[in-house]
Amino acid sequence: MADPSPPPKPQGEIVIRAIAMPADTNSNGDIFGGWIVSQMDLGGAVLARSIAESRVVTVAIEAMSFVAPVNVGDTVTCYARLQGVGRTSMKVEMEVWTHHYSDGTERRVTHGIFTYVAIDEHGRPHPVRRPG
Ligand SMILES: CC(C)(COP(=O)(O)OP(=O)(O)OC[C@H]1O[C@@H](n2cnc3c(N)ncnc32)[C@H](O)[C@@H]1OP(=O)(O)O)[C@@H](O)C(=O)NCCC(=O)NCCS
Repeated sequence: MADPSPPPKPQGEIVIRAIAMPADTNSNGDIFGGWIVSQMDLGGAVLARSIAESRVVTVAIEAMSFVAPVNVGDTVTCYARLQGVGRTSMKVEMEVWTHHYSDGTERRVTHGIFTYVAIDEHGRPHPVRRPG
């Protein structure tokens, strides 16, 4: 389904920027969706870790939409915005925008909501907002 009302400009802070490479293509010659999701997951973790000041793990991905294909050579930028903080969890809205090198086109290609849990050295959840 087409994106009904894409925002005119990216929302959030830049957490990852990369160039889409031929090694990450699918059988159509476009960039494989799994690669894009992994960039989003890593990018969201960058923001979540800075908030939790600890390791984090991804516990859920929701509202994920692939709006437009990513082409080889596009500059891919992941934007992250904190949507909410629970006791041990953080919801991060992720958007990916591409910049096409030859014509300068910018477009939002994917978006989704990633939930991370702050964990201690034993992999157990711990509160994001700790006293002191
Ligand atoms: C994340 C993990 C540590 C949570 O452990 P747990 O015993 O379920 O802990 P809890 O039940 O206390 O839940 C912790 C938080 O996660 C949230 N949570 C758990 N499952 C969730 C889900 N499916 N969707 C959204 N939030 C979820 C809980 O609501 C809770 O949030 P809060 O503390 O802010 O209220 C554990 O499930 C885990 O290690 N999962 C694997 C993570 C992983 O390997 N990720 C990489 C996959 S590619």
